[in-house]
Amino acid sequence: MRKIAMLGAGFIGAFYVMSLHGQRRRDKVVSVYSRSAQRGQDFAQRWGVAKVHTDMKAAVEDPDIDTVVIALPNNLHREAVLLAAAAKKNVLCTKPLGTTAEDAKIMLEAVEKAGVFHGYLEDLVYTPKTQKALQYVRNGALGQVLWARSRETHPGPHSDWFWNDQQSGGGAIIDLACHCIELSRNYIGKHIRPVEVVCWADTLAKPIAAEDNAIGLVRYENGAVSQFEVSWSFRGGLDLRDEASGTEGSLRIDNFLRTGFEVFTAVGSQGYVAEKAENDRGWIFPVGDEVHELGYNHMFSEMFDCIDNGTKPQEDFYDGYVVNAVMDACYRSAKTKQWEPVKLDIWRGATSVPKISAFKDYDADHYLIKEELLPDGSTKLILKNKASGKIFEKNP
Ligand SMILES: NC(=O)c1ccc[n+]([C@@H]2O[C@H](COP(=O)([O-])OP(=O)(O)OC[C@H]3O[C@@H](n4cnc5c(N)ncnc54)[C@H](O)[C@@H]3O)[C@@H](O)[C@H]2O)c1
Repeated sequence: MRKIAMLGAGFIGAFYVMSLHGQRRRDKVVSVYSRSAQRGQDFAQRWGVAKVHTDMKAAVEDPDIDTVVIALPNNLHREAVLLAAAAKKNVLCTKPLGTTAEDAKIMLEAVEKAGVFHGYLEDLVYTPKTQKALQYVRNGALGQVLWARSRETHPGPHSDWFWNDQQSGGGAIIDLACHCIELSRNYIGKHIRPVEVVCWADTLAKPIAAEDNAIGLVRYENGAVSQFEVSWSFRGGLDLRDEASGTEGSLRIDNFLRTGFEVFTAVGSQGYVAEKAENDRGWIFPVGDEVHELGYNHMFSEMFDCIDNGTKPQEDFYDGYVVNAVMDACYRSAKTKQWEPVKLDIWRGATSVPKISAFKDYDADHYLIKEELLPDGSTKLILKNKASGKIFEKNP
Protein backbone atom coordinates (compact mmCIF):
# COMPACT_ATOMS: atom_id res chain seq x y z
CA MET A 1 0.00 0.00 0.00
CA ARG A 2 1.34 3.42 -0.97
CA LYS A 3 0.84 6.31 1.47
CA ILE A 4 0.23 9.52 -0.38
CA ALA A 5 0.47 13.25 0.37
CA MET A 6 -1.87 15.20 -1.91
CA LEU A 7 -0.50 18.69 -2.50
CA GLY A 8 -3.47 20.87 -3.43
CA ALA A 9 -7.08 20.66 -2.33
CA GLY A 10 -8.67 21.91 -5.53
CA PHE A 11 -10.32 20.49 -8.63
CA ILE A 12 -7.75 17.95 -9.79
CA GLY A 13 -6.81 16.99 -6.22
CA ALA A 14 -10.44 15.90 -5.76
CA PHE A 15 -10.47 13.92 -9.02
CA TYR A 16 -7.23 12.22 -8.04
CA VAL A 17 -8.61 11.19 -4.63
CA MET A 18 -11.84 9.96 -6.22
CA SER A 19 -9.70 7.69 -8.36
CA LEU A 20 -7.26 6.66 -5.63
CA HIS A 21 -9.98 5.89 -3.06
CA GLY A 22 -12.57 4.52 -5.50
CA GLN A 23 -13.29 0.88 -6.36
CA ARG A 24 -11.83 -0.55 -3.12
CA ARG A 25 -8.35 0.71 -3.98
CA ARG A 26 -5.52 -0.18 -1.63
CA ASP A 27 -3.37 2.99 -1.91
CA LYS A 28 -4.32 5.73 0.50
CA VAL A 29 -4.19 9.51 0.50
CA VAL A 30 -2.94 10.00 4.06
CA SER A 31 -2.59 13.77 4.04
CA VAL A 32 -3.56 16.86 2.10
CA TYR A 33 -1.62 20.11 1.84
CA SER A 34 -3.63 23.32 1.57
CA ARG A 35 -2.64 26.88 2.47
CA SER A 36 -5.94 27.26 4.27
CA ALA A 37 -6.54 24.91 7.20
CA GLN A 38 -10.30 25.21 6.66
CA ARG A 39 -10.15 24.18 2.98
CA GLY A 40 -7.78 21.38 3.94
CA GLN A 41 -10.22 20.17 6.64
CA ASP A 42 -13.16 20.30 4.25
CA PHE A 43 -11.22 18.29 1.67
CA ALA A 44 -10.00 15.78 4.29
CA GLN A 45 -13.49 15.24 5.65
CA ARG A 46 -15.08 14.87 2.25
CA TRP A 47 -12.54 12.38 0.89
CA GLY A 48 -11.57 10.44 4.02
CA VAL A 49 -8.07 11.88 4.40
CA ALA A 50 -6.55 11.63 7.90
CA LYS A 51 -4.20 14.64 8.08
CA VAL A 52 -4.07 18.25 6.97
CA HIS A 53 -0.86 20.21 6.46
CA THR A 54 -0.69 23.95 5.85
CA ASP A 55 3.06 23.86 5.21
CA MET A 56 4.20 22.24 1.95
CA LYS A 57 7.63 21.20 3.25
CA ALA A 58 6.12 19.55 6.32
CA ALA A 59 3.61 17.71 4.11
CA VAL A 60 6.37 16.34 1.87
CA GLU A 61 8.74 15.42 4.71
CA ASP A 62 6.04 13.75 6.81
CA PRO A 63 7.45 10.26 7.60
CA ASP A 64 3.94 8.78 7.30
CA ILE A 65 3.97 9.23 3.49
CA ASP A 66 6.11 7.71 0.76
CA THR A 67 4.59 9.34 -2.34
CA VAL A 68 3.84 12.95 -3.20
CA VAL A 69 1.11 13.82 -5.73
CA ILE A 70 1.34 17.40 -7.01
CA ALA A 71 -2.03 18.98 -7.76
CA LEU A 72 -1.04 22.64 -7.42
CA PRO A 73 -1.05 25.57 -9.86
CA ASN A 74 1.61 25.31 -12.58
CA ASN A 75 4.06 27.82 -11.07
CA LEU A 76 4.27 25.76 -7.85
CA HIS A 77 5.20 22.41 -9.43
CA ARG A 78 8.92 23.11 -9.32
CA GLU A 79 9.02 24.01 -5.62
CA ALA A 80 7.01 20.88 -4.79
CA VAL A 81 9.16 18.59 -6.97
CA LEU A 82 12.39 19.92 -5.48
CA LEU A 83 11.06 19.32 -1.97
CA ALA A 84 9.98 15.78 -2.86
CA ALA A 85 13.35 14.99 -4.46
CA ALA A 86 15.21 16.31 -1.41
CA ALA A 87 12.99 14.21 0.86
CA LYS A 88 13.56 11.13 -1.37
CA LYS A 89 9.85 10.59 -1.94
CA ASN A 90 8.23 9.12 -5.04
CA VAL A 91 6.79 12.06 -6.95
CA LEU A 92 3.87 12.22 -9.36
CA CYS A 93 3.17 15.59 -10.96
CA THR A 94 0.12 16.76 -12.85
CA LYS A 95 0.35 18.44 -16.25
CA PRO A 96 1.99 20.62 -17.47
CA LEU A 97 5.21 19.56 -15.76
CA GLY A 98 6.71 23.05 -15.89
CA THR A 99 5.79 26.50 -17.09
CA THR A 100 8.74 26.31 -19.54
CA ALA A 101 11.21 23.63 -20.69
CA GLU A 102 13.86 25.22 -18.49
CA ASP A 103 11.57 24.84 -15.49
CA ALA A 104 10.81 21.21 -16.44
CA LYS A 105 14.48 20.42 -17.00
CA ILE A 106 15.33 21.54 -13.46
CA MET A 107 12.64 19.17 -12.15
CA LEU A 108 13.80 16.28 -14.33
CA GLU A 109 17.40 16.70 -13.25
CA ALA A 110 16.42 16.97 -9.58
CA VAL A 111 14.43 13.71 -9.51
CA GLU A 112 17.05 11.84 -11.51
CA LYS A 113 19.87 13.07 -9.31
CA ALA A 114 17.91 12.10 -6.20
CA GLY A 115 17.10 8.71 -7.75
CA VAL A 116 13.41 8.95 -6.88
CA PHE A 117 10.50 7.58 -8.88
CA HIS A 118 8.87 10.21 -11.11
CA GLY A 119 5.61 9.99 -13.00
CA TYR A 120 4.01 12.57 -15.28
CA LEU A 121 0.25 12.49 -14.70
CA GLU A 122 -0.82 12.82 -18.35
CA ASP A 123 -4.15 11.12 -17.79
CA LEU A 124 -5.43 11.31 -21.36
CA VAL A 125 -2.75 8.93 -22.58
CA TYR A 126 -4.25 6.41 -20.14
CA THR A 127 -7.92 6.52 -21.16
CA PRO A 128 -9.09 2.99 -21.93
CA LYS A 129 -9.83 4.01 -25.52
CA THR A 130 -6.39 5.59 -25.99
CA GLN A 131 -4.60 2.62 -24.46
CA LYS A 132 -6.36 0.29 -26.89
CA ALA A 133 -5.75 2.61 -29.83
CA LEU A 134 -2.03 2.81 -28.96
CA GLN A 135 -1.88 -0.96 -28.83
CA TYR A 136 -3.30 -1.11 -32.38
CA VAL A 137 -0.75 1.47 -33.52
CA ARG A 138 2.15 -0.38 -31.89
CA ASN A 139 0.99 -3.64 -33.47
CA GLY A 140 1.10 -1.96 -36.88
CA ALA A 141 -2.65 -1.78 -37.56
CA LEU A 142 -2.29 1.73 -38.98
CA GLY A 143 1.00 1.13 -40.80
CA GLN A 144 3.28 4.14 -40.42
CA VAL A 145 1.54 7.04 -38.68
CA LEU A 146 1.75 10.12 -40.89
CA TRP A 147 -0.55 12.52 -39.07
CA ALA A 148 -2.15 12.82 -35.65
CA ARG A 149 -4.70 15.34 -34.53
CA SER A 150 -5.81 16.19 -31.02
CA ARG A 151 -8.37 18.69 -29.89
CA GLU A 152 -9.20 19.96 -26.41
CA THR A 153 -11.60 22.85 -26.24
CA HIS A 154 -13.96 24.08 -23.52
CA PRO A 155 -15.47 27.32 -22.22
CA GLY A 156 -12.44 28.10 -20.00
CA PRO A 157 -10.90 26.97 -16.73
CA HIS A 158 -12.49 27.05 -13.32
CA SER A 159 -9.95 29.01 -11.16
CA ASP A 160 -8.53 32.53 -11.29
CA TRP A 161 -4.84 31.51 -11.45
CA PHE A 162 -5.25 29.78 -14.86
CA TRP A 163 -6.19 33.15 -16.37
CA ASN A 164 -3.10 34.87 -14.94
CA ASP A 165 -0.11 33.97 -17.12
CA GLN A 166 2.30 34.84 -14.30
CA GLN A 167 0.93 31.83 -12.40
CA SER A 168 -0.03 29.50 -15.21
CA GLY A 169 2.84 30.23 -17.62
CA GLY A 170 0.49 30.94 -20.56
CA GLY A 171 -3.06 30.37 -21.74
CA ALA A 172 -4.84 27.61 -23.64
CA ILE A 173 -1.56 26.24 -25.02
CA ILE A 174 0.11 25.58 -21.67
CA ASP A 175 -3.16 24.35 -20.17
CA LEU A 176 -4.58 22.20 -22.97
CA ALA A 177 -2.04 21.71 -25.76
CA CYS A 178 0.19 19.85 -23.30
CA HIS A 179 -2.38 17.01 -23.42
CA CYS A 180 -2.72 17.16 -27.21
CA ILE A 181 1.02 17.22 -27.87
CA GLU A 182 1.68 14.21 -25.66
CA LEU A 183 -1.22 12.22 -27.12
CA SER A 184 0.04 12.79 -30.65
CA ARG A 185 3.63 12.03 -29.61
CA ASN A 186 2.36 8.65 -28.43
CA TYR A 187 0.68 7.93 -31.77
CA ILE A 188 3.65 9.08 -33.87
CA GLY A 189 6.18 7.37 -31.60
CA LYS A 190 7.85 8.92 -28.58
CA HIS A 191 11.27 7.90 -29.90
CA ILE A 192 10.79 10.19 -32.93
CA ARG A 193 12.14 13.67 -32.31
CA PRO A 194 9.77 16.63 -32.66
CA VAL A 195 11.88 19.04 -34.68
CA GLU A 196 9.88 22.17 -35.43
CA VAL A 197 6.59 23.88 -34.82
CA VAL A 198 4.35 26.45 -36.43
CA CYS A 199 1.59 27.91 -34.29
CA TRP A 200 -1.19 30.45 -34.48
CA ALA A 201 -2.37 31.80 -31.13
CA ASP A 202 -4.62 34.73 -30.34
CA THR A 203 -6.73 36.28 -27.61
CA LEU A 204 -10.16 36.40 -29.18
CA ALA A 205 -12.81 36.24 -26.50
CA LYS A 206 -11.43 36.85 -23.01
CA PRO A 207 -9.82 39.93 -21.41
CA ILE A 208 -6.49 38.25 -20.63
CA ALA A 209 -2.84 38.70 -21.63
CA ALA A 210 -2.37 35.08 -22.74
CA GLU A 211 -3.90 33.22 -25.71
CA ASP A 212 -7.41 31.85 -25.39
CA ASN A 213 -7.28 30.01 -28.74
CA ALA A 214 -4.48 28.30 -30.64
CA ILE A 215 -3.76 25.85 -33.44
CA GLY A 216 -0.34 24.31 -33.92
CA LEU A 217 1.52 21.89 -36.17
CA VAL A 218 4.44 19.87 -34.83
CA ARG A 219 6.72 18.32 -37.45
CA TYR A 220 8.66 15.19 -36.47
CA GLU A 221 12.04 14.05 -37.78
CA ASN A 222 10.47 11.25 -39.88
CA GLY A 223 8.14 13.76 -41.60
CA ALA A 224 5.03 12.91 -39.56
CA VAL A 225 2.97 15.86 -38.40
CA SER A 226 0.76 16.36 -35.37
CA GLN A 227 -1.90 19.00 -35.13
CA PHE A 228 -3.48 20.47 -32.02
CA GLU A 229 -6.51 22.68 -31.59
CA VAL A 230 -7.17 24.29 -28.21
CA SER A 231 -9.66 26.83 -26.95
CA TRP A 232 -10.84 28.46 -23.75
CA SER A 233 -13.84 30.00 -25.51
CA PHE A 234 -15.48 26.94 -27.09
CA ARG A 235 -19.17 26.76 -26.16
CA GLY A 236 -20.99 23.50 -25.48
CA GLY A 237 -18.84 21.60 -22.99
CA LEU A 238 -15.53 19.78 -23.00
CA ASP A 239 -14.62 18.52 -26.46
CA LEU A 240 -11.82 15.96 -26.39
CA ARG A 241 -11.09 14.28 -29.70
CA ASP A 242 -8.15 12.45 -31.19
CA GLU A 243 -7.36 11.12 -34.63
CA ALA A 244 -4.42 9.30 -36.13
CA SER A 245 -3.88 8.44 -39.75
CA GLY A 246 -1.32 6.03 -41.14
CA THR A 247 -0.32 4.35 -44.37
CA GLU A 248 -2.59 1.37 -43.62
CA GLY A 249 -5.35 2.74 -41.45
CA SER A 250 -6.82 5.49 -39.35
CA LEU A 251 -8.62 5.92 -36.06
CA ARG A 252 -10.71 8.53 -34.30
CA ILE A 253 -11.76 8.83 -30.69
CA ASP A 254 -14.32 10.97 -28.89
CA ASN A 255 -13.22 10.92 -25.25
CA PHE A 256 -15.91 13.23 -23.88
CA LEU A 257 -18.99 15.19 -24.95
CA ARG A 258 -20.01 12.72 -27.67
CA THR A 259 -19.27 9.31 -26.23
CA GLY A 260 -22.43 7.57 -27.37
CA PHE A 261 -24.33 8.45 -24.15
CA GLU A 262 -27.02 11.03 -24.85
CA VAL A 263 -29.96 12.00 -22.64
CA PHE A 264 -32.89 14.32 -23.27
CA THR A 265 -34.54 15.93 -20.25
CA ALA A 266 -37.14 18.67 -20.31
CA VAL A 267 -36.82 19.25 -16.55
CA GLY A 268 -33.06 19.11 -16.09
CA SER A 269 -30.68 16.36 -14.99
CA GLN A 270 -31.16 17.17 -11.28
CA GLY A 271 -27.43 16.86 -10.76
CA TYR A 272 -23.93 17.11 -12.21
CA VAL A 273 -23.67 16.19 -15.89
CA ALA A 274 -19.94 16.18 -16.77
CA GLU A 275 -16.86 18.41 -16.51
CA LYS A 276 -17.43 21.83 -18.14
CA ALA A 277 -20.96 20.89 -19.28
CA GLU A 278 -22.84 24.13 -19.96
CA ASN A 279 -26.40 22.88 -19.68
CA ASP A 280 -28.36 20.34 -17.70
CA ARG A 281 -31.53 20.23 -19.77
CA GLY A 282 -32.51 19.46 -23.32
CA TRP A 283 -30.05 17.09 -24.96
CA ILE A 284 -27.19 16.47 -22.54
CA PHE A 285 -24.03 14.39 -22.91
CA PRO A 286 -23.13 12.82 -19.56
CA VAL A 287 -20.02 10.73 -19.00
CA GLY A 288 -20.49 7.40 -17.22
CA ASP A 289 -17.55 7.42 -14.82
CA GLU A 290 -15.31 10.43 -15.37
CA VAL A 291 -12.31 9.26 -13.36
CA HIS A 292 -12.29 6.06 -15.37
CA GLU A 293 -13.01 7.49 -18.79
CA LEU A 294 -10.46 10.30 -18.33
CA GLY A 295 -7.76 7.73 -17.60
CA TYR A 296 -7.07 8.42 -13.92
CA ASN A 297 -7.68 4.82 -12.82
CA HIS A 298 -5.38 3.27 -15.40
CA MET A 299 -2.83 6.02 -14.84
CA PHE A 300 -2.55 5.57 -11.07
CA SER A 301 -2.66 1.78 -11.32
CA GLU A 302 0.28 1.82 -13.72
CA MET A 303 2.21 4.41 -11.71
CA PHE A 304 1.87 2.51 -8.42
CA ASP A 305 2.64 -0.85 -10.04
CA CYS A 306 5.81 0.73 -11.44
CA ILE A 307 6.79 2.10 -8.03
CA ASP A 308 6.29 -1.37 -6.52
CA ASN A 309 8.19 -3.13 -9.30
CA GLY A 310 10.92 -0.54 -9.79
CA THR A 311 9.98 -0.04 -13.45
CA LYS A 312 9.48 3.04 -15.59
CA PRO A 313 5.92 4.27 -16.21
CA GLN A 314 4.60 5.10 -19.66
CA GLU A 315 4.76 8.79 -18.79
CA ASP A 316 7.55 10.28 -16.70
CA PHE A 317 9.19 13.66 -16.20
CA TYR A 318 11.24 13.27 -19.37
CA ASP A 319 7.97 13.27 -21.34
CA GLY A 320 6.80 16.34 -19.44
CA TYR A 321 10.06 18.06 -20.34
CA VAL A 322 9.68 17.25 -24.08
CA VAL A 323 6.10 18.56 -24.03
CA ASN A 324 7.26 21.81 -22.40
CA ALA A 325 9.97 22.20 -25.07
CA VAL A 326 7.36 21.80 -27.83
CA MET A 327 5.12 24.37 -26.15
CA ASP A 328 8.03 26.83 -25.78
CA ALA A 329 8.52 26.56 -29.56
CA CYS A 330 4.77 27.18 -30.04
CA TYR A 331 4.96 30.40 -28.06
CA ARG A 332 7.97 31.55 -30.10
CA SER A 333 6.25 30.66 -33.38
CA ALA A 334 3.03 32.46 -32.42
CA LYS A 335 5.13 35.62 -32.08
CA THR A 336 7.44 35.25 -35.11
CA LYS A 337 4.77 33.63 -37.35
CA GLN A 338 7.54 31.30 -38.57
CA TRP A 339 8.43 27.63 -38.10
CA GLU A 340 10.49 27.52 -34.90
CA PRO A 341 12.84 24.70 -33.83
CA VAL A 342 12.02 22.58 -30.79
CA LYS A 343 15.01 23.10 -28.52
CA LEU A 344 15.80 19.91 -26.62
CA ASP A 345 19.05 20.05 -24.63
CA ILE A 346 18.31 16.47 -23.60
CA TRP A 347 17.18 14.05 -26.33
CA ARG A 348 16.89 10.36 -25.46
CA GLY A 349 15.06 9.04 -28.51
CA ALA A 350 16.28 7.88 -31.91
CA THR A 351 18.69 9.92 -33.99
CA SER A 352 19.08 10.27 -37.78
CA VAL A 353 15.62 8.81 -38.42
CA PRO A 354 14.91 8.61 -42.17
CA LYS A 355 11.84 10.17 -43.74
CA ILE A 356 8.79 7.92 -43.85
CA SER A 357 8.67 5.94 -47.08
CA ALA A 358 5.75 3.69 -47.82
CA PHE A 359 5.91 3.31 -51.61
CA LYS A 360 4.29 0.07 -52.77
CA ASP A 361 5.68 -1.94 -55.64
CA TYR A 362 3.23 -3.13 -58.31
CA ASP A 363 5.99 -5.04 -60.09
CA ALA A 364 9.74 -4.60 -60.50
CA ASP A 365 9.27 -1.61 -62.84
CA HIS A 366 6.25 0.14 -61.31
CA TYR A 367 4.92 1.61 -58.12
CA LEU A 368 1.24 1.15 -57.24
CA ILE A 369 -0.13 4.60 -56.40
CA LYS A 370 -3.79 3.66 -56.04
CA GLU A 371 -6.24 0.81 -56.56
CA GLU A 372 -9.98 1.49 -56.54
CA LEU A 373 -13.17 -0.46 -57.11
CA LEU A 374 -15.43 1.70 -59.26
CA PRO A 375 -19.27 1.89 -59.28
CA ASP A 376 -19.46 -0.19 -62.49
CA GLY A 377 -17.68 -3.05 -60.71
CA SER A 378 -14.35 -2.62 -62.49
CA THR A 379 -11.06 -2.06 -60.70
CA LYS A 380 -8.76 0.72 -61.75
CA LEU A 381 -5.05 0.88 -60.96
CA ILE A 382 -2.90 3.98 -61.03
CA LEU A 383 0.75 3.11 -61.58
CA LYS A 384 4.02 4.97 -61.87
CA ASN A 385 6.89 3.80 -64.02
CA LYS A 386 9.99 3.89 -61.81
CA ALA A 387 12.40 4.71 -64.65
CA SER A 388 10.40 7.26 -66.68
CA GLY A 389 8.29 8.71 -63.86
CA LYS A 390 5.17 8.40 -66.04
CA ILE A 391 1.89 8.04 -64.15
CA PHE A 392 -0.87 6.10 -65.95
CA GLU A 393 -4.10 4.14 -65.41
CA LYS A 394 -4.52 0.43 -65.93
CA ASN A 395 -7.62 -1.75 -65.81
CA PRO A 396 -6.45 -5.23 -64.83
N1 LIG B 1 -6.63 16.47 -16.62
C1 LIG B 1 -5.67 16.91 -15.84
O1 LIG B 1 -4.66 16.27 -15.76
C2 LIG B 1 -5.85 18.18 -15.08
C3 LIG B 1 -7.11 18.77 -14.97
C4 LIG B 1 -7.22 19.97 -14.23
C5 LIG B 1 -6.09 20.55 -13.69
N2 LIG B 1 -4.86 19.96 -13.83
C6 LIG B 1 -3.64 20.56 -13.29
O2 LIG B 1 -3.70 20.49 -11.86
C7 LIG B 1 -3.09 21.63 -11.29
C8 LIG B 1 -4.08 22.28 -10.34
O3 LIG B 1 -5.23 22.64 -11.08
P1 LIG B 1 -6.70 22.61 -10.42
O4 LIG B 1 -7.64 22.53 -11.57
O5 LIG B 1 -6.79 21.58 -9.37
O6 LIG B 1 -6.75 24.06 -9.80
P2 LIG B 1 -7.59 24.53 -8.55
O7 LIG B 1 -7.53 26.01 -8.57
O8 LIG B 1 -8.93 23.88 -8.54
O9 LIG B 1 -6.78 23.96 -7.32
C9 LIG B 1 -5.47 24.39 -7.01
C10 LIG B 1 -5.16 24.16 -5.56
O10 LIG B 1 -3.93 24.84 -5.26
C11 LIG B 1 -4.14 25.79 -4.21
N3 LIG B 1 -3.30 26.96 -4.42
C12 LIG B 1 -3.51 28.00 -5.24
N4 LIG B 1 -2.51 28.89 -5.14
C13 LIG B 1 -1.68 28.43 -4.22
C14 LIG B 1 -0.46 28.91 -3.65
N5 LIG B 1 0.08 30.06 -4.04
N6 LIG B 1 0.15 28.15 -2.73
C15 LIG B 1 -0.37 26.96 -2.36
N7 LIG B 1 -1.53 26.46 -2.84
C16 LIG B 1 -2.16 27.19 -3.76
C17 LIG B 1 -5.63 26.12 -4.29
O11 LIG B 1 -6.12 26.61 -3.06
C18 LIG B 1 -6.20 24.74 -4.61
O12 LIG B 1 -6.25 23.91 -3.48
C19 LIG B 1 -2.63 22.50 -12.46
O13 LIG B 1 -1.28 22.28 -12.74
C20 LIG B 1 -3.50 22.03 -13.61
O14 LIG B 1 -2.89 22.21 -14.87
C21 LIG B 1 -4.74 18.77 -14.49
